[in-house]
Amino acid sequence: MPITNDADWWRNAVIYQIYPKSWADADGDGFGDIAGIRAHLPHLARLGVDAIWISPWYRSPQSDGGYDVSDYRDIDPIFGDVASATALVDEAHDLGIKVIVDIVPNHTSSQHRFFQELLASGPGSDAWARYHCLPGRDGGATPPNAWESVFGGPAWSPIPGPDGTPTGWWYLHLFDASQPDLHWDHPDVHAEFLDTLRFWFDRGVDGFRIDVAMGLVKAPGYPPMPPQHGDRHQLLDEVTDEPMWDQPGVHDIWREWRRVANQYQPPRAFVGEVWVATAHAHAAYLRPDELHTAFNFHHLKAPWNGAELRRVVDHSLYEAGLVGAPTTWVLENHDVPRVRTRFGLEAAGAALPSTNTAQLPTLEPDDARGVARARAALVFMLGLPGSAYLYQGQELGLPEVLDLPADVRQDPAFRRTNGAEGFRDGCRVPIPWTPDGPSFGFSPTGASWLPMPADWGPLSVQAQQGDPTSMLELTRRALRARRAEPALGDGDLTWVSGLTDACLVLRRPAGAGDPHVLVAMNLGDTPAVVDAESVLLTSAGDLEPAEGGGFVLPPDTAAWLR
Ligand code: NOJ
Repeated sequence: MPITNDADWWRNAVIYQIYPKSWADADGDGFGDIAGIRAHLPHLARLGVDAIWISPWYRSPQSDGGYDVSDYRDIDPIFGDVASATALVDEAHDLGIKVIVDIVPNHTSSQHRFFQELLASGPGSDAWARYHCLPGRDGGATPPNAWESVFGGPAWSPIPGPDGTPTGWWYLHLFDASQPDLHWDHPDVHAEFLDTLRFWFDRGVDGFRIDVAMGLVKAPGYPPMPPQHGDRHQLLDEVTDEPMWDQPGVHDIWREWRRVANQYQPPRAFVGEVWVATAHAHAAYLRPDELHTAFNFHHLKAPWNGAELRRVVDHSLYEAGLVGAPTTWVLENHDVPRVRTRFGLEAAGAALPSTNTAQLPTLEPDDARGVARARAALVFMLGLPGSAYLYQGQELGLPEVLDLPADVRQDPAFRRTNGAEGFRDGCRVPIPWTPDGPSFGFSPTGASWLPMPADWGPLSVQAQQGDPTSMLELTRRALRARRAEPALGDGDLTWVSGLTDACLVLRRPAGAGDPHVLVAMNLGDTPAVVDAESVLLTSAGDLEPAEGGGFVLPPDTAAWLR
């Protein structure tokens, strides 16, 4: 019986992210597609996830992997069409899997009807008021201010007139020049997105993942960045007091959207991409009349350090709890280096920040420890209350691909910085399904839009299936164990004291007959003893009983015990 069939499913769901270009290609063009997702839905049912989140599948020039949308109510032909998308939603539901789709309201593609109408009209027209358009300085020759794009270079590009001659005006794009930022004061912008929400809700989708949910409103007058920040804001850094993020007006938009979600039965759910500096600012998005949930990037950014991780868990639960919201847990997504590589680099002594895709590492990761830590972090995450996200390939333990040649890289930040930054393609390499073949079963023709490492056969779904030591079987076991202890996804958590800061042990509620489960993870360098009578799940092999009772938890290992 799936645990997803109630109105509160989003409070404790395990949600699997599909980056559709890279999951499974059915038509052989080297790009994943909706038919590929439909064909592989049994993988997800077998894995035991409650929901999927599909990164943008809308009509798009694909200059930022689909986060540049030219029509929100149509599907890009590389993926399929609206009919196949609707069929996918129905088929997922038949398997007890909910479907969340992405929505990108901060900016459109420059190919969107709104921007094309802007280009066809002159300054001061209504079409211009849907975007942020300002006259340039120095008689129009210089951008209106010094803001820089997250992807590098100026955040402004010149607006040509209908005849192609310069107008002296500029439009704002916090990301690529092909992604103009919408002006949320304009009623057409609200209407465009309310129509889009209803369009997909009416086709059965259970919710939306909202891109850049803290960015839609800009400070009046476009003031300069606070001096200590420079002009460059990094989406992946903890930002505060910046005029383009986390402005108070953004919350009114989420209240408007929540009213639409509440008109459906069961109500539809939102998860926001909210990069803000503190758990406190984050929780403001989760007030009862705003978003249901938001990605907990403080978890994703936490280093391999017991005290730090404990602080993140406590703050996240405390702040979200104040507004009655569950928290979320996330270790990977399509924007950050794979967790195995991140933790492997940290184990090798790299100073690389945990989410940095701006630079390539100069050290070799300690892969064995990276693998162990990625496994442990998964087991620990799934023992926490709230919902948890898995990114495609995380269940296979895929590493980051660090050596993609420059000429295949597609990240717009790579292009905008002349190859100095923008390495997100390394976590977007297609998924290996079979041990052999030129694209390991990703595509029937062997094509793949990014090259796949030659040694990925043993990481494929087929190769890992049935091998109890594999990451795939660990993930299946962990999800089964989580379902068997439904109280784990809700309820409170108590830290068990008496161990070092490096070995975290927390007590979680469980079924009536069995009062609790202990979730433990050893982030230190020496073994720790956990006082318990039996072991439910471990990230590594069996745990040795300790002399005098309990079990020995080696470094880089997590377990559930009773
Ligand atoms: C966040 C998305 O996750 C990322 O992939 C995208 O490039 C930016 N938002 C801009 O839409």
